[in-house]
Amino acid sequence: MEKFVIRGGNKLKGKVRISGAKNGVLAMMPATILCPGVFTLRNVPNLRDVWTMSRLLNDMGIYSELNGDELFIDSRNIHSFEAPYEHVKKMRASFYVLGPLVGRFGKAKVSLPGGCAWGPRPVDLHLKGLEKLGAEISIEGGYVIAKANKLIGTRIHLDVPSVGATGNIMMAAVLAKGTTIISNAAIEPEITALAKFLIKMGAKIHGVGTNILEIEGVDSLNQTNEVVIPDRIEAGTMLIAGAITEGTVTIEGCNPYHITSVISKMEEAGCNFEIRDDKVTVQIDGPPKPVDITTAVYPGFPTDMQSQWVAFMLKANGVSKITETIYPDRFKHIPELQRLGAQIEMSDNTAIVYGGKKLSGATVMGSDLRGSAALVLGALIAEGTTEVLRIYHIDRGYESIDRKLRALGADIERVPTDEF
Ligand code: EPZ
Repeated sequence: MEKFVIRGGNKLKGKVRISGAKNGVLAMMPATILCPGVFTLRNVPNLRDVWTMSRLLNDMGIYSELNGDELFIDSRNIHSFEAPYEHVKKMRASFYVLGPLVGRFGKAKVSLPGGCAWGPRPVDLHLKGLEKLGAEISIEGGYVIAKANKLIGTRIHLDVPSVGATGNIMMAAVLAKGTTIISNAAIEPEITALAKFLIKMGAKIHGVGTNILEIEGVDSLNQTNEVVIPDRIEAGTMLIAGAITEGTVTIEGCNPYHITSVISKMEEAGCNFEIRDDKVTVQIDGPPKPVDITTAVYPGFPTDMQSQWVAFMLKANGVSKITETIYPDRFKHIPELQRLGAQIEMSDNTAIVYGGKKLSGATVMGSDLRGSAALVLGALIAEGTTEVLRIYHIDRGYESIDRKLRALGADIERVPTDEF
C-alpha cells in the first residue's frame, strides 16, 4: 500500500501536461469487441482502471499492451463472453462490455456492478435499452445474462441521460438490423468521442454530439486507430490546484471547450485565465470569492468536479453552497475534509462550506476517486503535514498526480505504508 505525505503552503507554478481521458478510453477499449482486428489507441493514460479493463478484456481473449501512451489491442481471438464479478466489482466501467458482446455475439454474462440493477448503482436503463433492441435479459446470481438472435433497431428514450447507458446501447445498436434512435442520450465529450471512434470503424451514426442519436445498423465493422481526447476532469482538477494555492499554472494538451463550465465558475471566483489552443493558464490574486455550484449533465458543471470545488471553496472568505444532482450520496470527502479543520454542513444534497478557516494537516483517508483528489487539494493549503491514505483510489483516474504536482512545486511524496 502507499500513501501521500503532503506539506501544505506552497504556491504552484509552471506547466503540466494533461493525460488522455479515463472515461474516454474505458468506453473505446470494449468497443473493439465489435470487430475482429488490431487497433492502436494513442494518448492513453497509464491508470489502474486502464489496467483493470485490459485484464478483463484479456480474460475474454483480447490481447492488449500499453507502451507509453500507445495501447495496442488485438480482438481477433475472443473466446469468452463473460465479465466476472472480480473485475466488475473493481470498476463499474467493466459493464461497458455488455452492449458490444450482445451486439456482435448475441450473448453475454456480465456481473452487476454493485447492488442490484435498480440501485444503488443502477443499470436499469442499460438493460431496458438492450431489451428494446430484442435481447432477452435475466438476472441470476448477481449476473446479467443476455441472449439475442439478431438485435433489431428501434426507438429508445432514456429517462436519465446516462453516460454508460448511452454508450452501451449505442455499441449494441451499431450491428443491429435496421435503425435505432436513442433520445435523451448523454452528450458528454467521452460519448461523442466513442461515437466518432465507432464511425471510424464503419458505423453509421447521425446526430453525434446531440441528445438524439440515430444509428443505422451495418453488417460489420473494421479495425482502426484513434487518439483519446484529453481528460477534462484532470484538467479541471489541475486548474483548481493552481488557484487554491494562489499560484499560476498552465495546463497543456487539454481541450478548453470541454471545461467551459469549470472555467466560468472559477472566473466568477476571481480567477484570471489565458486560453490559447490546447493551453489554459490560471492565475489568481488572493483567495477566491465564495461561489455556489450545482452539478449537472454536460455541458453543466460536472459531478466529477464537485468534490474538488468543495475543496476550492475552503479557501474562499465566505459561505458557498455545492449541490449534487447526479448522485444521491457523493459526499464521502466531507468528513475527511472536516478532519483538516474544514467547516462544512450538509443539508440534503447540498454541502454548505464556511470558507476561510485555517486548515491543519492530519491523516485522512480516500474512499473514492474524485473525493480523494479533493483531499489532496485540501492538503495543499493545510498548515503542516497531511497524510492521505488509500491513494489507490486516486491512481485509478489520475496518471502520476504526485509527479505532476511536484513538478509544479507541491511538497508531495508517495511513500509505502502498511496503514490501510
Ligand atoms: C460515468 O459514469 C462516468 N464513468 C462517471 O465518472 C461520471 O460521474 C458519470 O458518468 C456522470 O457523468 C465513466 O464514464 C467510466 P451515469 P456512469 O450512467 O455511466 C443514474 C469518475 O469519477 N443511472 O451517467 O455510471 C445513476 O445512478 C466517474 O470518473 C440510472 O438511474 O454514470 C446516476 O445517478 C465516477 N440508471 C446517474 O444516472 C442507469 O441504468 C448518472 O449515471 C444508469 C444510470
